[in-house]
Amino acid sequence: MSLRVPIEPLEYRSGALFFDGFSLESLAENHGTPLYVYSAGAVRSRLAAYRAGIGQRRHQICYAMKANGNLGLLGVLARENCGVDIVSGGELFRALRAGISPERIVFSGVGKSATEMVEGLENEIHLFVVESGAELHLLSQVASARGQVARVSVRVNPDVDAGTHPYIATGLRENKFGIDHEEVLATYRLIQELPGLEARGIGFHIGSQLTDLDGFREAARRIRDLIEALRVDPGVVLSHVDVGGGLGIRYASEEPPSPEDYARLLCEELPYPEMTLVFEPGRNLVGNAGILISRILFRKQNGAKVFFIADAAMNDLIRPSLYGAYHEIWPAIRERMVHPISGADLVGPVCESGDFLARDRELPDLQAGDLVALASAGAYGFVMSSNYNARLRPAEVLIDGGEARLVRARESYDDLVRLETL
Ligand SMILES: Cc1ncc(COP(=O)(O)O)c(C=O)c1O
Repeated sequence: MSLRVPIEPLEYRSGALFFDGFSLESLAENHGTPLYVYSAGAVRSRLAAYRAGIGQRRHQICYAMKANGNLGLLGVLARENCGVDIVSGGELFRALRAGISPERIVFSGVGKSATEMVEGLENEIHLFVVESGAELHLLSQVASARGQVARVSVRVNPDVDAGTHPYIATGLRENKFGIDHEEVLATYRLIQELPGLEARGIGFHIGSQLTDLDGFREAARRIRDLIEALRVDPGVVLSHVDVGGGLGIRYASEEPPSPEDYARLLCEELPYPEMTLVFEPGRNLVGNAGILISRILFRKQNGAKVFFIADAAMNDLIRPSLYGAYHEIWPAIRERMVHPISGADLVGPVCESGDFLARDRELPDLQAGDLVALASAGAYGFVMSSNYNARLRPAEVLIDGGEARLVRARESYDDLVRLETL
């Protein structure tokens, strides 16, 4: 196998796989499979690493909840005084339900509707991160019609190549995100002219799963130049600088920088102690803190090719099908790794050839009935799941304080048709 030791908090104890102190067997027995399991402790220790790198700087960590919006997990972050970065009215609803305070909510996204703007204003969220002139005009209309002032931050497209998968690169001119850095001064002039708007911040988000610091450094320098230029003309002094998210995690052999080094770098590159640094980590906070447990239904051989057919599928975890993403596969029984099978596929029951969880890989010698953990499934896992093939979305469990608690029940057949009529 490519790695002999799984990513913590996965570990083998006497040959059996455990996640944050619970055996896969016991989790599957109590909650069934497929099953997402998250570790609150692992999330907290990531958070502590960010805070160690940030030190005494004025800051707000706004977790990008698109990575995983489970209420139980959001509750853990709310209790840690985290804010959130939201991208829809639905995420605002979830955040408030989880007890996140509105003054710690920033609203990003290229396509906010007037209704979503009203919802943000009604709840007095902290900042609207604006991505176009057209959006500024609409926000101005919506806010002034309500007699309110919307605090805005401009997302700059710094035209920086983050060197990641094209679907998750966002900081290039060819991407739909942000305002071209050459248009930024004109954008702040527009904010000054329009009623119902107040310029508070500036920021960037250049992509996701970034495994070195170069792109962040380059983007931060661009922003620094813009902060300086804005102070001169049109004379805008900002209180917030938003550095987005994007720090990667280990899925296979990547070695991303630590959150401490990442946060320290951004603090150094943006030396404005009077400004609040807004961090929006998503994947990096929760990705390695979650697994997907699946049971092998069948082992099938077509010629020399071995297929392990699992009870989890692309509708449960779409990352491998969507991005060719890699997740480590760890068997519940360690011995299954002694004689691995080469060129094997781990696939689901969905009727698509693109339905795979691992393709052409060296996989453990799994048997029908075995459990496996798909590692690093805490981010962009459950949130991207669907009911395709009328499959029920999995249950979610949160391990916290030595307890494994169900934080989302497995869907039922009734859930499938609840909103439909004959
Ligand atoms: C504006 C913004 N902030 C933060 C994030 C989180 O990114 P990541 O999960 O890579 O940290 C995203 C992801 O798309 C985003 O668009």
